[in-house]
Amino acid sequence: GQDPRIARISSAIRVIPNFPKPGIMFQDITTLLLDTRAFRDTVDLFVERYRGKDISVVAGIEARGFIFGPPIALAIRAKFVPMRKPKKLPGEVISEEYSLEYGTDKMEMHVGAVQAGERVLVIDDLIATGGTLCAAIKLIERVGAHVVECACVIELPELKGRDRLAEKPLFVLVNAA
Ligand code: PRP
Repeated sequence: GQDPRIARISSAIRVIPNFPKPGIMFQDITTLLLDTRAFRDTVDLFVERYRGKDISVVAGIEARGFIFGPPIALAIRAKFVPMRKPKKLPGEVISEEYSLEYGTDKMEMHVGAVQAGERVLVIDDLIATGGTLCAAIKLIERVGAHVVECACVIELPELKGRDRLAEKPLFVLVNAA
């Protein structure tokens, strides 16, 4: 059966209808952060899965990958690398464009933050269409590093974002409608 911690995590996530626009059911993880047991369980479930897997980098996606990524990185003795929106990182960057519902966006990573041959875990709060994680995978592979797995707290399975990640494994704690 399912780990009993999952039910508590799932019920700590608040769903806000029609945010940021009509028809969107926003999966709000700020309430999960207020439930100290559920927040700890979330981090622990990822740490239990990834410790001992020789992962040297946890790459967190802006913005909520910056909340879950660092405690996981510290616990598994990995570095933390932020994957950011354009024009936020001050050093030399490589960037990858990806498509949104309307138009495109860009993700950037510091040159030298991830080295060729490193084993990387990519973390975000949620996968919807998969476009964001796909861009992160491309950036990491462009520098010759290896994406061991992508991990999210929440998946929206109806959007089939998982299919956009090619053969990269995706691990999620909670499925949402
Ligand atoms: C959300 C979410 C993921 C992304 C997933 O971020 O936190 O990063 O969308 O969508 P996708 O699978 O369709 O690419 P958002 O766009 O809200 O940006 P923010 O985290 O900076 O608020």
